[in-house]
Amino acid sequence: MRALALLVATALLGCGGPSMDPEVASASAASRADYDVFALRCSKCHSLARPLNSGIDDDGYWRTYVAKMRRQPGSGISAQDSVAILRFLHQYSIEQRRRKGKPVDSPALTAPSPAPSETGGS
Ligand code: HEC
Repeated sequence: MRALALLVATALLGCGGPSMDPEVASASAASRADYDVFALRCSKCHSLARPLNSGIDDDGYWRTYVAKMRRQPGSGISAQDSVAILRFLHQYSIEQRRRKGKPVDSPALTAPSPAPSETGGS
């Protein structure tokens, strides 16, 4: 049963296309608002598939990427946005790891390591 669910999930992810809603819908309702911020902010310059299909499933990498994207001219991503976005991406990483059969209690998902070059400032 579990294997089947995993297969279905993998198939969904595998087809890549623009239909990633089913998988996002599986995230908890609480993260819906976070997803909305992510969807709004991270689809401005490229499709959402970019981050979603990047294969990143590590909070540290997400922190670095979101910081990097924020610094893009005209990103419109505020510090507050990045908190919600990172919260969504954290959930997303957990789902990705489950799907891949990776451990979800990995330090990569909890390490509070701030991105090296992003300590506030302008
Ligand atoms: C202001 C424009 C802009 C916004 C907003 C933006 N990005 Fe990007 N993003 C870029 C550019 C430019 C690239 C690299 C260009 C390319 O390779 O096509 C990129 C590439 C990426 C990549 C791929 C990096 C790689 O090495 O393949 C990821 C992942 C990514 N963005 C995630 C995000 C996330 C998450 C957000 C929301 C927090 C976001 N982006 C918002 C401009 C933006």
